[in-house]
Amino acid sequence: MRPRSLLARNYSPEDLERIANAFLVGNGRVGYKGTREEFGKEERATFSLIGTYDQREDKWREPINLFDPLGFRIETSLGTIPGREPLRREFRLDMRHGILYRKDVYEDVEVRTERFCPYGGGLHLLQKIEVRARKDAKVLLSSFLTTDIHEINGPHFPEKSLSFLEDGSVLASGVTNEGRKVEVILREEGSHGRRPFLEKERVGYLYEADLRQGERILLRKIGEARIDGEIEEEAPLSYEEARRRHFLSFERAFEEARAILPRDGELQKGMDHAVYSLLILGNHRKATSIPARGLSGQVYKGAIFWDTEMFLLPFFLLTDQEVARLLVQYRINTLPGALLKAREFGFEGAFYAWESQEDGRERCSLYNVTDPRTGEPIRTYFADCQIHISIDVFHGLMEYVRASGDLRILEEGGKDVLREVVRFYRSRASLGEDGLYHFKGVIGPDEYHELVDDNAYTNAMVRFEIEDAVSYLRKKGYGGIPGEELGEWLRFARAIYLQKPGKDGVIEQFAGYLGLEDVRYEEFRKRIEDPKEYLGGKEGKATPTRVIKQADVVALLALHPERYSREALRKNLRFYEPYTEGGSSLSNSMYGLLSAWCGNLGKAVRYMRESTLTDIRGSKKMFAGGIYIGGSHPAAMGGAYLDLARGLLGARIEENKVRFSPNLPKEMKGLRYRYKEGGIPKERKF
Ligand code: BGC
Repeated sequence: MRPRSLLARNYSPEDLERIANAFLVGNGRVGYKGTREEFGKEERATFSLIGTYDQREDKWREPINLFDPLGFRIETSLGTIPGREPLRREFRLDMRHGILYRKDVYEDVEVRTERFCPYGGGLHLLQKIEVRARKDAKVLLSSFLTTDIHEINGPHFPEKSLSFLEDGSVLASGVTNEGRKVEVILREEGSHGRRPFLEKERVGYLYEADLRQGERILLRKIGEARIDGEIEEEAPLSYEEARRRHFLSFERAFEEARAILPRDGELQKGMDHAVYSLLILGNHRKATSIPARGLSGQVYKGAIFWDTEMFLLPFFLLTDQEVARLLVQYRINTLPGALLKAREFGFEGAFYAWESQEDGRERCSLYNVTDPRTGEPIRTYFADCQIHISIDVFHGLMEYVRASGDLRILEEGGKDVLREVVRFYRSRASLGEDGLYHFKGVIGPDEYHELVDDNAYTNAMVRFEIEDAVSYLRKKGYGGIPGEELGEWLRFARAIYLQKPGKDGVIEQFAGYLGLEDVRYEEFRKRIEDPKEYLGGKEGKATPTRVIKQADVVALLALHPERYSREALRKNLRFYEPYTEGGSSLSNSMYGLLSAWCGNLGKAVRYMRESTLTDIRGSKKMFAGGIYIGGSHPAAMGGAYLDLARGLLGARIEENKVRFSPNLPKEMKGLRYRYKEGGIPKERKF
C-alpha cells in the first residue's frame, strides 16, 4: 500500500501545536517545525539545528535556533496575509518523500508553499512559494529572512545583523553569548522583478505583480546555515535539482525502511509516521546524536537522554548502520564529560550525563521542574541519581557491536567506554552484609520515586549487560580488553544483588515499594488538582504511593525476557499496568514489547498503536511541573518500531544477519517488513 500523506485540513487554532510537531521536516542536522511561515515567531516557528548550544547568563543552556529564512507576507486589495482568514486551509506531509505542502485559499488568491531539508545533506532548508490569482488581483509579496526568532532561554544573539551579498543573496549573521558565529544565507529566484528591502529584523525582496486570474508569482528559496564559517556541504545551486534528488533519496530510504501492514489503515499511517519521524533524525554527517525532542526545538535543553540508546538505536541498527555508528560515536566522544561528572560526584569511571549536550557534561539542572502553584523550583535528583544512564550507554554500544560485528569501534574508543562504565558502577556500589553489591539512593526509569535503594531495573541491567558483554567479547578474542579484566567484570556483575520474583511472581521495583499505598492510577488521578502538577519528588502525590510514571520493572523484562520465566513476565505486566500513569511517551512501547513476549498480542498491538500515534494525536503532557515540555516524541516513534521489529517479528540482528521469530497476531498475517542486512535492502513477508 502506498503511504497516504498526513493531512490537516481546516484545522483550528488549538490544533497548531500538534501540527507543528507532527509535520516537522528535517535531515538529522537541521529541521523546521510544521508551522505557518507567515506567522513566524508568533507560532514558535523553529529552524532547528542539532549540536550547537548556547547559554545566556544563568538560564538553561539550550540549542540555538537559526535565523528564519521562510518568512513571507502578502498584500492585495482585500488585505494582508497574515491577518486574513482563509476560506480553506491545509497542511499535507508527504511522508514518502519528506516534503511538507501547505495550501491556503483566500477569496482572491491561493497560496501554496512546500519545504524540505535535503536528505543526507548539510544545513539546508528549501522552500517554494506560489501565489496564484483566483481573480484579477494586484499582489505584493514580500519574502524575507528574519533575525526575530522564537527562543526559550534566549536571546542567544546579543549581536546580530542583516545585509545583502554581492550576488543578491541576503545574509543574517549573529554571534552567540558563547561566541559562536552563526550565519544564515538565503538565495532566491523569483518569477517577477523584485525590489530589495531591509528593516530592523528583516531582509528580503518585494515582488509586485498585476495578476490575471490563473496567473501566479513563484519563488524558490534556498536557505543555508553556517556555524563559525564552516560550510558543512555546499548549498545546492538549483532548487528543482535539489528537490529532485531529495525526492528520490528520501523515497528510497522510506521504502527500504517501512513495513507494509495488511488491513489496518490507522496503524499503517501511525507506523509510516514513526518511520518518517525517525528518518528525518538520521544524521549521516556528524556524531551529534539525537535530542529527546528531536528537531522540534529547545525543549529539554536539546539534550540527549537514554532515549537514544534504548529507543532509537534499534531502528537505525536495522535500517541504516551508518547513522547507528555515529550515535555510538557520540558517546565515545563525550566520554571525558562522563569521567568529569563521576569525579564531581565523588566516583570513579564514567557517569554519563542524564541530559547530555555536545561535550557530554551534565546539563540537567538540580531543579528541573517547578511547582506550577507557587512557581518555586523543585529539587529533583535526576542528574545525581539516575545512574542507569551509564549502563544504557554501555548497552547501546554493545548492541551496535553485536549487530554490526564492527569490533573496530572498540579499538577506536569503545572499549574505554565499556571499561569506565564498569569502573563507575564498581565505585558506586556498596557491599552489603549479604556479601552482595547494592546501589543505594538511586532513581529508576519511573522517576517519581527518588533516592530509592536497589532499583530492579538498575541492578539487573548492570548485571546482565556486563555478563552479556563479557560472554560476547570472550567469543571475539576479547575486543582488545585483557581476559583477566573481563574476569573481574564478571565477578563484580555476578555479585550484584538481584530482586527475585516474590511468591506472587512480582519483582519489587525497589526496596520498600510494595509497602507504599496501594492505589491504582485510575483512582489516584482524582487527587490531581492541577494538570501541570509535578507528581514525583519530595512533595509529589505519587511519592507515597505505588503510582509510577512509566515502565520500570516492565522495561527491564521487556529488554531481557530471556532471563525470566514467561510466568514472571506475565505476572509483572499485569501487576504494574494499573499503577502506571504513562506520563512519559516512552512507557507505552515497553508495555507493548513485554505484552508481545507474554503472547498477549492484542495488547501488544494496542500499545504499539498508541505509541505510533503519539505525535499525530498530540495528546502528550505539555508541562512537567511548570516547565513546558511540548515537542515531538522520537522515543515513542523508535519504541513503536521496536515493538514491531523485535516484539512482533522477533527480529534479532547479529553480525549483520537478521533472524526472525515472529509472534504475529492473525490479523497482521501478510505483513511485509523491509530492513537492511549488511547494507543490503531486504524484504520479508510474514
Ligand atoms: C522521562 C525520561 C526521558 C525524558 C526524555 C522524561 O519525561 O521520564 O525517561 O528520558 O523524558 O524523553
